[in-house]
Amino acid sequence: MVGIILYYLVIFGELIFAIGFSIVTFSFIYSSLKGSPYVPTKKKEIDYILKNANLNPDLNFLELGCGDGRVSRQAAMRYKVKALGVDINPLLVWYSRLISKLDGVANTKFITKNIFDTDLSHADVLYLFLMPKLIELIVPKLERELKKDATVISHGFKIVKWQNRLRKKIDHKPFPTYFYLK
Ligand SMILES: C[S@@+](CC[C@H](N)C(=O)[O-])C[C@H]1O[C@@H](n2cnc3c(N)ncnc32)[C@H](O)[C@@H]1O
Repeated sequence: MVGIILYYLVIFGELIFAIGFSIVTFSFIYSSLKGSPYVPTKKKEIDYILKNANLNPDLNFLELGCGDGRVSRQAAMRYKVKALGVDINPLLVWYSRLISKLDGVANTKFITKNIFDTDLSHADVLYLFLMPKLIELIVPKLERELKKDATVISHGFKIVKWQNRLRKKIDHKPFPTYFYLK
């Protein structure tokens, strides 16, 4: 009898694992299909990038495609900015909220939204780590909606059309970081 119960418990455990694994895998595929795969900024690079961003508590920090929210969370914790992270992947948004709650980080909010439906007009500092094609597609939106003098930090890939707005570049490996002023 105990053997049978154990047998079903193992089957049940494997089923839960398979379902969980599939949900995570599909959510990552979904992120990729929507424009950018989930690849987090390396933790040791985040602080160096943020140190170069002249952050202060009066600023609104917006992260487009926030993944697990680590960049927004760090900005809110260390520099007390008001941070908003937006991601198309609801699982990552849920995880970002959970970690922020567990870490007791105030001043952060995470929402599930497509970048193209996100209002950029309040952002003082915009952080992105997105694929070049997606960056190219959002440039008109950045030009339309961002405040004059907003800072745009693009980790990984440059904003090709903003060459004349480039103010600083950090040459990290494997990804550089570009700082632009609108
Ligand atoms: C390369 S990851 C960067 C994650 C995070 N910014 C970081 O640096 O750790 C790109 C993120 O963009 C999200 N994403 C892709 N397409 C999107 C879209 N159209 N709207 C909102 N988020 C999107 C993905 O779900 C993924 O989490």
